[in-house]
Amino acid sequence: MPRRGGLAVLLLAILRAQLSSAAPLNGSKWTYVGSTGEKSWSKKYPSCGGLLQSPIDLHSDILQYDASLVPLQFQGYNVSNKLLNLTNDGHSVRLNLNADMHIQGLHSHQYRAEQLHLHWGNRNDPRGSEHTVSGKHFAAELHIVHYNSDLYPDFSAASDKPEGLAVLAVLIEIGSFNPAYDKIFSHLQHVRYKGQQASVPGFNVEELLPERPDEYYRYQGSLTTPPCSPTVLWTVFRNPVHISQEQLLALETALYCTHVDDPSPREMVNNFRQVQKFDERLVYISFRKGVILSVALAGVLGISIVAAVSIWLFRRKKSKRGDSKGVIYKPAIKKEAGAHA
Ligand SMILES: *[C@@H]1O[C@H](CO)[C@@H](O)[C@H](O)[C@H]1NC(C)=O
Ligand SMILES: *[C@@H]1O[C@H](CO)[C@@H](O)[C@H](O)[C@H]1NC(C)=O
Ligand SMILES: *[C@@H]1O[C@H](CO)[C@@H](O)[C@H](O)[C@H]1NC(C)=O
Repeated sequence: MPRRGGLAVLLLAILRAQLSSAAPLNGSKWTYVGSTGEKSWSKKYPSCGGLLQSPIDLHSDILQYDASLVPLQFQGYNVSNKLLNLTNDGHSVRLNLNADMHIQGLHSHQYRAEQLHLHWGNRNDPRGSEHTVSGKHFAAELHIVHYNSDLYPDFSAASDKPEGLAVLAVLIEIGSFNPAYDKIFSHLQHVRYKGQQASVPGFNVEELLPERPDEYYRYQGSLTTPPCSPTVLWTVFRNPVHISQEQLLALETALYCTHVDDPSPREMVNNFRQVQKFDERLVYISFRKGVILSVALAGVLGISIVAAVSIWLFRRKKSKRGDSKGVIYKPAIKKEAGAHA
C-alpha cells in the first residue's frame, strides 16, 4: 500500500514536471523575450504577422487632420462605488472593468469597457510605452480596452470581428506624483505573481486620462499582444500624463510574469511590443499640428526678415549714391512685416 501510494506521488510529480516544461512551447505561452518572444508570436498567432498591426510610431508624414473627430464621451467611468478585480495575468497588471462603463461617440456605436492594463520598461531603461511619437518612447502606457456592445454580446465575441474593439491609450511620462494612478499602483504588492488577484476600491477612471482628451490620434490597428487581432480602433491621446519617479519604479519592480512557486522567477519588465510597419495607413488627428504650424510660421518670418534686410541693403546702396528715393520703401517694409505677423 505505501509503495503504491509512493508510486502515485512520483507519477504525479513527473506528470507535473512534464506539463510545466511543455507549457512554454504551447500556444497560450508567449513572452516579450527569448524563444517565445514577439518575433515568434506569428507562429501560433498568424495575425501577429499580418496586417494593421499595432503599436506604431506617430510621425508627421502619416498624420492627417480630420475635423470629424469630435470629443469622446466617457460614461459611467466613475466606478467609485464598486469593487474591481486587479489581476496579474503574467503579461501585465490588469484591472477588470465589468461595470456599466462605456464610450459614446465612436462611429455611432457604444463601446463598453472590459479592462485596463499597462506597458512599461525597466528601472535602467524606463522607456516602455508601446506607441512612440516621432520616434520617442514615453516611460509607460495605459490601455483601456473596450468592445462594441452594440454589435457583440461580450469581449471575446467582439475581439476578432470587424469594428469589434476600441482602445484608449494614455502615454505616461515622469513628473509629479499622480494620485489617480496610485489607486492602481498602491495595490501592486497584492498581485506580484501570475494568477494573483486582489479586490480594490473603484475610483473615477476618467482621472487616468490626460488634459485635453479631445486632442487625440486615431487609427485602425490591432491588439498589441497575441492574438494581435486587427480589430482595434485606436485613440491615442496627444497629451501625456505624469507619474512620479517612485510610482514608475514601483510598477517596474513589483511584478513577476511567473507563478509564486516558480523555481525560476521572471521579472515583469519591458512588456511592450516594438512599433510595427505602417505601410499604406494614415493616422487621423483631432488637433491642428502645433509643431508643423510653428515651423511654417518660422519659415514665413525668416523670409520676411531676409526680404526686409535685402530691401534695407538695397535702400542703403541707393542712398549712398545720394538718392532720397529710399524713403519710398519704408511703408513697403512695414506692410511686408505686418502681413506675416
Ligand atoms: C503543447 O503542444 C504540444 C504540441 O505542440 C502538445 O503535444 C502538448 O500536449 C501541449 N502541452 C500542453 C501542456 O498543452
Ligand atoms: C464619483 O462617485 C462618487 C460616489 O459614487 C462621488 O462621491 C464622487 O463625487 C463622484 N465623482 C465625480 C467626479 O463625479
Ligand atoms: C472578481 O473575481 C471574482 C472571483 O474570481 C469574481 O467572482 C468576480 O465576478 C470578479 N469581479 C469582477 C468585477 O470582475
